[in-house]
Amino acid sequence: MRLDKFLCDAGIGSRKDIKKIIKSGTVFVQGFSSIRPETHIDPENDKVFLNGSPVAYKKFIYLMMNKPKGYISATFDKRLPTVLDLVPEEYLHYDLFPAGRLDIDTEGLLLLTNDGQLAHNILSPKKHIPKTYFAEVSGKVTDEDIEKFSEGVIIDGDIKTKPAVLEILSAGEVSEINLTITEGKFHQVKRMFEAVGKEVIYLKRIKMNALSLDESLPLGELRELTDDEVKLIKEGISYEEI
Ligand code: URA
Repeated sequence: MRLDKFLCDAGIGSRKDIKKIIKSGTVFVQGFSSIRPETHIDPENDKVFLNGSPVAYKKFIYLMMNKPKGYISATFDKRLPTVLDLVPEEYLHYDLFPAGRLDIDTEGLLLLTNDGQLAHNILSPKKHIPKTYFAEVSGKVTDEDIEKFSEGVIIDGDIKTKPAVLEILSAGEVSEINLTITEGKFHQVKRMFEAVGKEVIYLKRIKMNALSLDESLPLGELRELTDDEVKLIKEGISYEEI
């Protein structure tokens, strides 16, 4: 790996800043000053120091986004803005992608990472990773709906959903609910409510596995997960190689 990419991955600064830093002679690789950004290094084993302090290599990055409406969960689209359009430049050199999809009009917790194995494991239908959504639903959500969702409902004529946990927060002309599902079928939450004759008018993901959305994170912003939060998103997942 090139020295400038290594320092960039370690979060030292932008490519431009890093070029300047390297040229200034303050970066040492295996004990020798290195002033060439293209110097080849072994990221796992070489000792790199900046201003006398060791630089730790960061292979994987995990970002929590509070996704706003109007963005699609993809890395590229010809017509529509994607969640990657909201990622600050300092993270763009990682090959980030969203681990999971939220509809264009859904808000809330979206994990962006370059860790393909984690994404695969979170999204694998075999793993039954719980995802919790808050929704506003037009119509009165009832105990009967709780019962039906706990047994699974038929969406799209022949597909039966896995048992889901519905919690009613308030019930009226518009009801507020939390729903935990362990699958990720297309428009699943919206279609589950359609199956019981109701319409989701606002949807926000608030939890994935044991990781909750940081409610202090403004819509459209993101931040790196803490080490504890990385443990929460991975909790209980037995790793499967991809
Ligand atoms: N279910 C939906 O209907 N939409 C989402 O964005 C996520 C789950």
